[in-house]
Parts: sequence; structure tokens; C-alpha cells
Amino acid sequence: MSDPARLRPEDVLETLPLDTWHGPFPPELRERAVRALEAGKVQFLPGLGFQVAPEESGFLTGAAAGGARKNVSLDPATGTASNIGLPPEEATRIAAMIDRFGREALRLVGDLLPGYAPALERARTSFRPTEIAGRAYSVRHDDRLLHVDAFPTRPMRGRRILRLFTNVAPDGAPRAWRVGEPFEGFARAFAPRVRPPPPGGAWLMHRLGLTKARRSPYDHWMLRLHDLGKRDRDWQARVPRADIAFPAGSTWLCFTDQVLHAALSGHCALEQTFHLPVEAMRTPARSPLRVLEGVTARQLA
Ligand code: SIN
Ligand code: FE
Repeated sequence: MSDPARLRPEDVLETLPLDTWHGPFPPELRERAVRALEAGKVQFLPGLGFQVAPEESGFLTGAAAGGARKNVSLDPATGTASNIGLPPEEATRIAAMIDRFGREALRLVGDLLPGYAPALERARTSFRPTEIAGRAYSVRHDDRLLHVDAFPTRPMRGRRILRLFTNVAPDGAPRAWRVGEPFEGFARAFAPRVRPPPPGGAWLMHRLGLTKARRSPYDHWMLRLHDLGKRDRDWQARVPRADIAFPAGSTWLCFTDQVLHAALSGHCALEQTFHLPVEAMRTPARSPLRVLEGVTARQLA
């Protein structure tokens, strides 16, 4: 098989010279940010790190995550963190660190993307201490394979998933990502292989408690694209891509429901997820919902 086509880093990344978590930011930077994100680029902030306090530095080891799960995740609505393998006093302190990061991230996104701010929802915040490389995953859970984010239990009904990451690796290890071709090409390749959801299926799954809300056809299509793409080894091997190393002490954000991405290696990242209604976008036609509706000639949400 021939080597896959390489995308240039500047095709997939927009780099902004920004080193604080709050504005006001110049209008020109804000304009670049909204355009790049909605065009499906990763917004890279190489000069923006997150300050981990000296007494928190002990958390930057794999020991912080409990059991077989890889992340510690905080629900900002309740302030409680799940999956912590630490005694209660330390669990409280790590939850405080994760929440502090989440509040900084919210401030940054609100100030950099003021058009989103009124409708932006802060969802979960996570701490990802464990090394990605060399672990065993099922294909479906293997985020080292290119995918767009779609979650079986959390129907989005078309809403966007915007995620912000900061690499806080104490040993300076970069977080290595692979970024793939634009969403539309991916959707055109796989959507024809997706069969429509069975009538009543979404209702039943919700009734049985398998999903937190009723899945829309959009959720069905996105989950199927996620799984089909990860399972297609041939496509994984040949899809055009760029490999990017995000250094320790840097931050990046993108719409992970749109950007084909894979996390290949690295440890100790903090991550904040946001949800955004399609109508709050500058150009809703660029959303996966609208693109998929075009590709499938169906109304999906
Ligand atoms: C992912 O969303 O696929 C994982 C990203 C990461 O943890 O770097
Ligand atoms: Fe992902």
C-alpha cells in the first residue's frame, strides 16, 4: 500500500500568539479563532500553559486515576469527581485543581469566542494522567485511531462538542495527535454504509436507561461513523493526515465532533468539554449536523 497523503500542519492548525486565560483579546485574534474552529482546524495556543501549584504536582502521575479507567472526570454541575484512586482529602484537592482549570478554560473560550458565550455550556472537565501509548484498548475505545467524537450514552441531537486541552506533563512529554482530512470527505466515505435507525429504537434505549436522552438520527449516524471509521483499517492507513506534537505547557482546542483526530501518545493532560447549539455558530452550515443532512438528504435532528 502506498504511503498516505500528508496534510501540512498549517492546513490543520491555526496558531495564535496568546498567553493569558482571559481577555480582552484583539478583535483580529477573535475573528481568526472563530473562522479557524468552524472551518475544522485545531486552534493551537503554544504559549498558554496551566499553572499547577507545587502542592498539586504529586497528582501528575498515573496513580491519580482509579481502577481500570484512564481519566478522572469532574461534573461542574455537582463539583464531584469520579474515578479517583486517592484518599478523600487528596480527592478534594485534585477536584479543586481540575475545577480551576475548567473555570480558566471557560473564561478563555468566553473571551476568545464571545459570539458563543451566551449559549456555551460547560460540560465535563477531565484529567488524563495515564500514558496513551502501549495500552490495550478495544477498537471502539481506541482513541489512537482517527475518529470524530460521538458518545453512546450522551445524545447530542446536533449540538456541537468543543474541547480544550492543556498538556501539563511534568517531564515535558508532548501529546502526539494525528489530524485527518476534512469532515465532509469522511462523511461521504462512510454515510452510505450506515443503515437508518430502527423505528422506536431510540425510544426504547432511553426507556431502558441506556442513553441519557433520546437519540436523534444525528446521534445514530455519528456513532456509526465513529465505529465504521475506527474499524476500517484500510481507510485508517490511507486517509490524508498530519501528525502534530503539542508540547508540554501548550493548549489547543477544536470541535472534536468535526475534526478527525487520534491521540497517539502522551500523559497528563487537562481537558474541558463544551456543548454549543448549532444556531450559536457563525456559520451553522459547517456543523456536522448540516453537512450530514446534505450528504444523506435527510433531516437528522
Ligand atoms: C480523544 O478525544 O480522542 C482523546 C484526546 C486526548 O486525550 O488527547
Ligand atoms: Fe476523541
